[in-house]
Amino acid sequence: MSKRILIIICGVFFTPMLIWLSAQTALGSDEEHTETAAFLFPQKHSTNLNREQQQGKELYEYYCALCHGKTGKGNGFNSFSMSVPPANHTDATVMATLSDTQIYQVIKEGGTSLGRSPMMPPWGRVINDSEISSLVTFIRTLVTSEE
Ligand code: HEC
Repeated sequence: MSKRILIIICGVFFTPMLIWLSAQTALGSDEEHTETAAFLFPQKHSTNLNREQQQGKELYEYYCALCHGKTGKGNGFNSFSMSVPPANHTDATVMATLSDTQIYQVIKEGGTSLGRSPMMPPWGRVINDSEISSLVTFIRTLVTSEE
């Protein structure tokens, strides 16, 4: 094989790889990576949200996902070390037992306000009332009813 053909072959294989690598580096933070992934592999819950639900989603990912998990399954990073597992917001049976008012109250005043664990913190001082309402509407979208 002549040298020239070898160089061409190398070019064909390595140029796209370099472009891909530099694109990855340029993307930077983890969050942006997730967004790229969400763009490539759209998930059921990442689409078709109205504005209020979308606001709820952003708050949820910021404040709640640590315990409840990004998709609400109760498997957030913190959940593994907790004596009371965070609620699973995708479970239709569990969620059907809660009214919007109760969900609102538990978020605002914490688990103890509904006789539940203090492991669910009160958010009333951090998140304002309209934001709590949008969290409630977003949490309702997490239920995967087919299961
Ligand atoms: C420190 C971990 C933690 C964080 C952060 C957290 N939660 Fe919770 N949450 C829990 C735990 C634990 C429970 C279950 C309490 C129980 O069952 O006694 C719970 C329960 C709930 C419930 C009640 C569900 C039910 O079945 O009664 C709702 C609603 C809820 N969380 C919403 C939220 C929202 C919204 C946020 C973000 C603003 C949030 N949580 C942040 C730990 C957390």
